[in-house]
Amino acid sequence: MNIQDLEKLIKGRRSVRQWKKQEVPEELLRKAVELATWAPNGGNYQGWRFIIVKQKETIEKIANAVQAVSDKIASWPEAMSWKEDVKRYQKNASFFRNAPACIGVFSGGYQSPMDKVLMARESFDPEAKEILGFRRSAPTAVQSTAAAVATMLLAFHQMGLGAVWLVSPIQAKKQIEAILNVPSNMDLICLIAVGYPDESPQKERRPVEEVLEFVY
Ligand SMILES: Cc1cc2nc3c(=O)[nH]c(=O)nc-3n(C[C@H](O)[C@H](O)[C@H](O)COP(=O)(O)O)c2cc1C
Repeated sequence: MNIQDLEKLIKGRRSVRQWKKQEVPEELLRKAVELATWAPNGGNYQGWRFIIVKQKETIEKIANAVQAVSDKIASWPEAMSWKEDVKRYQKNASFFRNAPACIGVFSGGYQSPMDKVLMARESFDPEAKEILGFRRSAPTAVQSTAAAVATMLLAFHQMGLGAVWLVSPIQAKKQIEAILNVPSNMDLICLIAVGYPDESPQKERRPVEEVLEFVY
């Protein structure tokens, strides 16, 4: 693959939120997860776990749980301050119920040796506590899992599938972990909804000059 092919793959991928009813073959889902596990990850610890859900009723249960939490948040008086935006989020909260497959992405956390040293000192050393705060502001485990998810989305795109990365279901973390029988040492990071695309969304990006700076 040359760089132009890679560019085409990267720029051609879009988040897809409408799918054909067609089932996604298990081998494709398995292959995409396998490729995702080749993503860079902190310490090569590979603390991620993936649960592929193809069963319609289970996807429905997850979607209902997410919708219920969204409805509850939208019903709170504080939601009135952002009424229209909250309504939009509420309306879109569980569109993934129509996805032929969903992948729950979980992380078991990761502690580098530096974290261990810092944690041993944080109670009495303000400097160690501050450094630990820096590390916690961008957790290695979450970054590693995100690398895997980005890799998976590209793999799906190359397979002709359309997927979307969903963090909003995290609001029903407890319910989703219970529905999927997730061990207590694993945390839900996101869901990926995937299927054969039934839409061709377009998106633009800001020019790279707006977001890039060189230091010479
Ligand atoms: C960390 C993260 C969280 C996201 N969460 C959601 C979500 O909860 N619901 C949703 O519909 N899309 C979600 N998306 C998809 C983004 O909306 C989408 O990537 C963005 O609009 C750019 O569009 P593109 O993926 O087609 O380039 C998320 C994407 C990322 C990377």
